[in-house]
Amino acid sequence: MKRSIGPSTCLAPLPAVIVTCGDGSENNAITLAWVGTVNSEPPMLTIAVRYSRYSLPLIERTGEFTVNLVDRALLRATDICGVTSGRDCDKFERAGITRAKGEKVSCPSVAESPVSIECKVRSRVDLGTHAVFFGEVVNVIAAEEYLKNGKLSVPEGRLVAYANGKYVGTGEALGTYGFTAREKRQ
Ligand SMILES: Cc1cc2nc3c(=O)[nH]c(=O)nc-3n(C[C@H](O)[C@H](O)[C@H](O)COP(=O)(O)O)c2cc1C
Repeated sequence: MKRSIGPSTCLAPLPAVIVTCGDGSENNAITLAWVGTVNSEPPMLTIAVRYSRYSLPLIERTGEFTVNLVDRALLRATDICGVTSGRDCDKFERAGITRAKGEKVSCPSVAESPVSIECKVRSRVDLGTHAVFFGEVVNVIAAEEYLKNGKLSVPEGRLVAYANGKYVGTGEALGTYGFTAREKRQ
């Protein structure tokens, strides 16, 4: 039995990521869950940033950001970057994460993150509480153990997701894309 509970932002699970932004003069790390993949060619993703965030004007000023995927080892850092503001502290120091120089963007990435996705802002849509940035992926930097034949191959159970106020682990693979189409018809 299901029942109606009215409208809310209840999509789950969501990726939990640390977005890095800014440049050499001023940079920051912010945890986001409202992140989505929205286009293949060019590869594009969105991030939704509340107007009050210190990170927002940094993204706006440089027109760049990096989405850093988080594994279980980065769980505490992810939470710290989500409950402290770059207005008050150096979050890299506070969270115990290291700045790595961006390759195709001026903002740093998180050295400890297994996958860093460098993006350039192509457009911005302003909604009631959040600005949504559409970022074109200009480079992906991945750890060796996340690669197979030069392509991204995320190991099972390592990445962290976010669902309804809780950080949740990803588990074992339950199937692969199109597995039903490959099944032998009786
Ligand atoms: C798990 C998690 C997910 C979050 N997702 C978002 C999000 O999608 N958008 C957003 O604006 N803030 C989100 N936040 C809140 C910001 O990370 C938080 O307000 C942070 O302190 C802002 O940092 P800043 O002021 O340095 O930019 C999230 C926080 C957590 C812990």
